[in-house]
Amino acid sequence: MKKIPVIIDCDPGVDDTAALLLACQIPELDVRAVTTVAGNVGVDKTTANAKRVRNIIGADFPIFQGADKPMFRDLVTAAEFHGEDGFGGVELPIPEEDISEEKAWDAMYRIAKECDGELVIIAVAPLTNIGIALAKYKEFPNLVKKFVIMGGAAVGGNVTPAAEFNVYVDPEAADMLFCCGTPIHMCGLDVTMKCYITPEEVKQIADFGSVQAKLFHDVLQNCMKKYMQSGNRGVALHDPAAVLYSVYPQMFTAEEAGVRVETKGTRTLGKTVTDLYSDKQFEQHNVCVVTDVDRTAFIEKVFALMKQYTN
Ligand code: RIB
Ligand code: CA
Repeated sequence: MKKIPVIIDCDPGVDDTAALLLACQIPELDVRAVTTVAGNVGVDKTTANAKRVRNIIGADFPIFQGADKPMFRDLVTAAEFHGEDGFGGVELPIPEEDISEEKAWDAMYRIAKECDGELVIIAVAPLTNIGIALAKYKEFPNLVKKFVIMGGAAVGGNVTPAAEFNVYVDPEAADMLFCCGTPIHMCGLDVTMKCYITPEEVKQIADFGSVQAKLFHDVLQNCMKKYMQSGNRGVALHDPAAVLYSVYPQMFTAEEAGVRVETKGTRTLGKTVTDLYSDKQFEQHNVCVVTDVDRTAFIEKVFALMKQYTN
């Protein structure tokens, strides 16, 4: 089987943790690197959490640390959902080993060249690292096959009524990505809120008995409570949705569109403006906006992947 070379750009983060656990069990994926960025919590913590997850998985992907703040703004975090540690309060030792000195954006560029046009970047965090790579390397857009992002929303928001967190934190970087011309697949709140997992389903995963299944369960507990308190049927697996979409698009529905990001507004800052529902169309139509999922198939795949962990 020809594997898909990917870099996962993330801000672990409880759903990022679930996404990494799943990605490392997908046979079609060749995780060339994990890059970290400030988002849910500071970049030192997101990087420490990436090391923790790598250790629990027993994986050997290299980790490259990225930006400690958005390109042009102060950092906004989401510790209320992810915990001050960004790990849902789960206590695991931080592995001692050092990570490479190479910065995330430089690693993205280098690995994109090594993959000779086949690299897919799965970005499930604020897009700062990608924005910096675009600013530093003008040929970067031509080196990446496609970006699959968890970010944005054709309708609604979760930080403000207009904006989703990843885009809201660094709207300028997001707009640079949408303008760069590379094909983009946008798994926004339109689909990720439908990719929820219930408390009973998460408990079933814990009952698989592996340390990885236990981490999947434990790391989501605080966030699950908050989602349930808001009237949801479970916690949205935002980042896992982007990972599974990258490999199993058949369980999702996507529509081609143009997307730009509001970078100047106050009430609308960070809004992903799509022309999906407008007769006025943007010039560029390089985005597939993912709008729906077969949730049964999605959860079945999550179960099947997590069941593969045996230690
Ligand atoms: O809006 C959801 C996104 O924000 C997810 O990537 C979550 O990890 C947070 O970063
Ligand atoms: Ca994330």
